[in-house]
Amino acid sequence: MKIAIDGPSGAGKSFLAKQIASRLGIVYVDTGALYRTVGLAVKRADIDPRDTASVIRLLPEIEVELTYIDGMQCVLLSGENVGDKIRTPEMSMYASLVSAIPEVRKFLFNTQRSIAEKNSVVMDGRDIGTVILPDADVKIFLTASNEARAHRRYLELKEKGIETTPEKVLEEMIERDRNDSTRDVAPAVAAPDAVLLDNSHLDGEGTVLRALEIISEKLG
Ligand code: DC
Repeated sequence: MKIAIDGPSGAGKSFLAKQIASRLGIVYVDTGALYRTVGLAVKRADIDPRDTASVIRLLPEIEVELTYIDGMQCVLLSGENVGDKIRTPEMSMYASLVSAIPEVRKFLFNTQRSIAEKNSVVMDGRDIGTVILPDADVKIFLTASNEARAHRRYLELKEKGIETTPEKVLEEMIERDRNDSTRDVAPAVAAPDAVLLDNSHLDGEGTVLRALEIISEKLG
């Protein structure tokens, strides 16, 4: 079984995908973590993420691997578990910028495809239904209003002790969504056969229940 969940930042894709994975007993793959990890490597190499040529030159020098420790997805950057180092607002922006580079997407393609070939998966990202799993059994495009998404992202960052303001989160989120949805390669758009799920007025459990309905309708 292959389930694709795409959508803009802060829509709750990772919460939903984790819940689906644990309720259906399948593997959860957070593909944004891979782009964030490339972003971290770029930052550590002191490269400007907009400097496409330098980012491309860095790729052969790094290794990005997906692994599972106690059922939790971990990303290894040249053998080092990156943990929460990729979860800062700065890394969100780095990830968004490097993800617009076709060579970066190509670099991460096989890692994503091969895990889906070996397992039943629910993957979340931006191009899962369009590029990574065009053959997915179920495709959900999860979205919510800008205000609802920014509010959720703000609470998430606050809980992690990251200093920011709701206004700054909204501004950065809009900029990142614009990058992600207007880039030339694999823009974050709904696949033609995706089911749109707007959860502006649903809580987490309400979103999970609606998604499970969509899955069972699709799988018959
Ligand atoms: O899902 P996330 O916020 O962790 O993703 C970080 C960035 O990575 C996002 O702004 C765009 C990029 N990304 C992508 O281009 N394609 C994916 N499948 C997942 C993420």
